[in-house]
Amino acid sequence: MKAIEVEGGRQLRGELTVHSAKNSVLPILAATILSGDTCVIQRCPRLEDVEASGEILRHLGCRVQWQGEDLMVDSSGLSRWDIPDRLMRRMRSSVIFLGAILARCGMAELSYPGGCELGPRPIDLHLSALRTMGARVEEHCGALACRGEDLQGAEITLSMPSVGATENAILAACGARGTTVIANAAREPEIVDLQRFLRKMGAEVRGAGTATVTVEGGRPLHGCRHRCIGDRIVASTYLCAAAAAGGDIRLNGVDYRHLSTVITALQQAGCRISSQDRRIRLISDGKLRGITPVRTSPYPGFPTDAQAVLMAAMLRARGTTMFVENVFQSRYRHVAELMRMGADIRLEGRVAVVCGVPKLCGAAVRCTDLRGGAALVVAGLQAEGVTRVEAIHHIKRGYSDLVGDLARLGANIREIEI
Ligand code: UD1
Repeated sequence: MKAIEVEGGRQLRGELTVHSAKNSVLPILAATILSGDTCVIQRCPRLEDVEASGEILRHLGCRVQWQGEDLMVDSSGLSRWDIPDRLMRRMRSSVIFLGAILARCGMAELSYPGGCELGPRPIDLHLSALRTMGARVEEHCGALACRGEDLQGAEITLSMPSVGATENAILAACGARGTTVIANAAREPEIVDLQRFLRKMGAEVRGAGTATVTVEGGRPLHGCRHRCIGDRIVASTYLCAAAAAGGDIRLNGVDYRHLSTVITALQQAGCRISSQDRRIRLISDGKLRGITPVRTSPYPGFPTDAQAVLMAAMLRARGTTMFVENVFQSRYRHVAELMRMGADIRLEGRVAVVCGVPKLCGAAVRCTDLRGGAALVVAGLQAEGVTRVEAIHHIKRGYSDLVGDLARLGANIREIEI
């Protein structure tokens, strides 16, 4: 088993290019099957979740091949419409294949995505969007059987702007007859990226990035090449790491406007940040101060995925910082681990209050989920002594080389066998 060992106390200095966004790549990999042709995802990050998507695609009959840094998917030979439970459980976002398989095959069989690391993650909005387009969905003992040979464009209003439900509805709508209008759609940059990809394939999708997305279904689609946007959560992680440890880092490849709420919070905490298009520079002396309450909400609000890493950055800040988690019911499993390192955090329901402490101590801690795991590393970089972070498979789902990147910035960090 592998673990990360990090010794705190070193400032971070240098320059990095941030890899493409996991949350763009995954729905786009699902979307490749709509083309019935060859698509190439350029400079695709090698993440566990990307490998899991590749396995699903192979199971469906697609040819999936790494060509250097690019990932090629040829879906011309797609021959199945089911995803076995074993693959569904490997990755929570596997449900995004539902809309794409349905659009391509007229039917889909899969099970509920496994686990519940952030509290319940229902898929009722996904299913009701598909039902509105005429799909018949039967649920039986955790298995889903969907039929929709004749999907019809429809007006869909999401009761909340779910990212996954918006993506599933867009993908299914590409295979439906007529116009679909999705109201109260999620506005995340990754949805805009999915639209860009689908347009390159020949689809007619507009409005992504606003609350209303329109899809003219039934267009003939073809293969394309696409490079996804930079990962705003990976960028946020490195900014939080340098903010807390101190130093001077430059990040390339990510649009600073996609993480403006995170940048604003770090500026308020005392960091100097300058940004231009796809470059961000952060300078910090490592002595942060508490900031006004951080409330997570759908984009363009503060991202729930950056809550844990910002919290880790604020652990030694002078004063108090309140976090309110509004997107997921239970996204504070990292708190107990951070407290093992000496953090002072009070938790009540959706609210966590961090009182800055003068120092953190290295400890043995365990990743509870992907971003919570990254938060433990951010805490370790500013702790006295050695922190050993276990269960790092969570981190590998979303960071292609967290350890290597931080080591290149000067951190005393390594992966060890335990
Ligand atoms: C996506 C991201 C994830 C991020 C989240 C919120 C991907 C692969 N993952 O997850 O990293 O944390 O957005 O920004 O892009 N909900 C329902 N019913 C549904 C669907 C969602 O009640 O049918 C609820 C969820 O339980 C949650 C909220 O809506 O409380 C937001 O979830 P959603 O936006 O769907 O997140 P994901 O797409 O799963």
